[in-house]
Amino acid sequence: MKSFKDKVALITGAAHGFGRSLAIEAANRGMKLALADVDESGLEKTFYDVKNLGAEAISIPTDVTDEAAVDKMVKQTMSKYNEINLLINSAGIAIPGPIWELPTRDWEWILHADLMSQVWSLKRVIPIMRKQKGHGDILNVASMAGLITSPLMPAYYATKFAVVGMTEAVEYDLQAAHANVGLHVFCPAFVQTDLYHTEKHRPEKYTDNSDPYYSSETFKEGQKQAKIDITTGMPIDNIPKIIFKALEDDKFYILTHPGMNPAIVARANNIPSGKGPDLAALAPFMAETHEVEGDNKDER
Ligand SMILES: NC(=O)c1ccc[n+]([C@@H]2O[C@H](COP(=O)([O-])OP(=O)(O)OC[C@H]3O[C@@H](n4cnc5c(N)ncnc54)[C@H](O)[C@@H]3O)[C@@H](O)[C@H]2O)c1
Repeated sequence: MKSFKDKVALITGAAHGFGRSLAIEAANRGMKLALADVDESGLEKTFYDVKNLGAEAISIPTDVTDEAAVDKMVKQTMSKYNEINLLINSAGIAIPGPIWELPTRDWEWILHADLMSQVWSLKRVIPIMRKQKGHGDILNVASMAGLITSPLMPAYYATKFAVVGMTEAVEYDLQAAHANVGLHVFCPAFVQTDLYHTEKHRPEKYTDNSDPYYSSETFKEGQKQAKIDITTGMPIDNIPKIIFKALEDDKFYILTHPGMNPAIVARANNIPSGKGPDLAALAPFMAETHEVEGDNKDER
């Protein structure tokens, strides 16, 4: 069975949420860690927590919306450990808002934070893994929002569909090249993380306080709904174990909300018949966004 002990994990978004919980799980499994995030105080907390678990670790403050910073992050990891065996792309944000109101800068922010950050790290880490002995794994955090759609978050859906499509396409190229690298894409529905704090991580370059959109009812309502969705989501506790088991089992798609499976199938079945999104048909599925994977129900 695949073992991660003594292997090197580079984790983005390590200050909070999935990135932080995966860092702690990786430390418990004896991995050496390179931890990256834009939130330096949150990053420091994760760093000290994994050190207290006995893990070797470095912390690399990084804004993943900046390609030069991603480049530096990979180089710093290599200069410390000289290898990367597991890359976890978990840094990300969520932005609600209808397309006719959401400022273009918010599209640019989410496309860079949730998609281009992963493109830039894959571009650099895949060649490193291919030169190494043994197998490398890469986990791209996407979302259920990369497999089905619902109202109010077009920018989020656009980036998550792009992450799923990009990861699938790269997987073909790796197979054709007989590469020693396995890709995985994580597609959860709502989970209790700090994702509704997205605005705290808005880089200066995407900030314009004079834009009236950020004091509009649409903006405030979006923030309120995001908090409700995330704080009532599935508890995060079992997620890192589900993910590491899926990495060990070489699963490509990693799903945690089986109640959403009929929605994924329904969308796929509608496509050849030309049937498009139907708000009324979606309603029953939305109630399922908080359900935990069948096999793991007892562990809640
Ligand atoms: N929580 C959910 O319900 C849920 C569901 C599906 C998908 N996701 C996805 O999971 C990923 C991780 O989110 P989370 O839920 O753990 O949220 P989170 O806010 O708890 O963690 C995200 C981390 O990314 C960091 N980050 C944000 N912008 C950054 C930047 N520019 N550079 C570096 N780091 C940055 C934040 O500081 C934070 O530590 C996101 O892509 C999110 O879309 C979350």
